[in-house]
Amino acid sequence: MKKKLNKVAKDTNLFLKKFILNQKRTELLIPMKYGLLPGGKKIRSKLLIDVGKIFNINYYKLIQIGAAVECIHAYSLIHDDLPCMDNDKLRRGKLSTHAKFGESTAILAGNSLLTIAFEILSQPSFKADFKTKNRLINLLSKCSGHSGIAGGQYSDLQFEGKKQTLKKIIDMQTKKTGKLFSFCCVAPIIISKKNKYLNLFDSIGSKIGLLFQIADDLIDHTSSSKTAGKKTKKDLKRGKATLISLLGYKNTVKYGNKLKLEIFSKINKLGDKNKDLKDTINYILKRSK
Ligand code: IPE
Ligand code: IPE
Ligand code: MG
Ligand code: MG
Ligand code: MG
Repeated sequence: MKKKLNKVAKDTNLFLKKFILNQKRTELLIPMKYGLLPGGKKIRSKLLIDVGKIFNINYYKLIQIGAAVECIHAYSLIHDDLPCMDNDKLRRGKLSTHAKFGESTAILAGNSLLTIAFEILSQPSFKADFKTKNRLINLLSKCSGHSGIAGGQYSDLQFEGKKQTLKKIIDMQTKKTGKLFSFCCVAPIIISKKNKYLNLFDSIGSKIGLLFQIADDLIDHTSSSKTAGKKTKKDLKRGKATLISLLGYKNTVKYGNKLKLEIFSKINKLGDKNKDLKDTINYILKRSK
């Protein structure tokens, strides 16, 4: 699994480096590259490849989509670390973008990474028919905005210091993290045009994203900053509404394991090409960073 993940990360980074080299040189590109390139696991790209494998989708096409997704993800992390949000100075083992370049620069670098994602998907060298491109761009927009990442981040910050119900926490985490994962599981279906699988993979993707966020909360609770590459043991201090804050550590681990089995039961129906996807899901829950 680690070897395959590293290959996907390498290919995604290679695409991004080339894409950036072809951009007009601007000063903002420097903080953009800083927040985007080194260190990220590229797990969202890996999911695109895993689901793509089930539907025989061209690897390089998926790497391009993964690159777009990773730009949006990097933007969301740069903004997530800002003093007005989680106020974190450490990201991917180095200074977060605003700590290195200043707040206004980090905001603008984040904005530019968000728009670059759509530039990648709309450029002529991304080979797909217009209808497919349009569907991908439309879905990625929805997953990033007020009903996706931004909306979930809004609730995450609103919920700080206030007790929330299980349903509200799950809804918040499904938006802030699950929606982008859902996009990664649905994009290969859009390309394959096998529309009868859309709802199933939307649901599988949201649940994998929720599992990913639960694992991230567990890492915050148990891991060291050195291992995670970001400050840990901070969710409790900031009064973040997480499953750990509501149910306790042990019950959150149980919840995660149950959720994983629920996802597996949906995937098991898909035949024997699902092994890589299963490996990735196991990794998501077991990882230490
Ligand atoms: C961290 O995401 C933020 C969450 C959505 C929990 P990742 O753990 O995927 O971050 P990188 O890209 O590997 O640094
Ligand atoms: C962030 O969640 C989710 C995003 C959409 C950026 P966290 O705030 O828990 O992510 P980390 O722990 O800072 O990486
Ligand atoms: Mg946050
Ligand atoms: Mg954070
Ligand atoms: Mg976290």
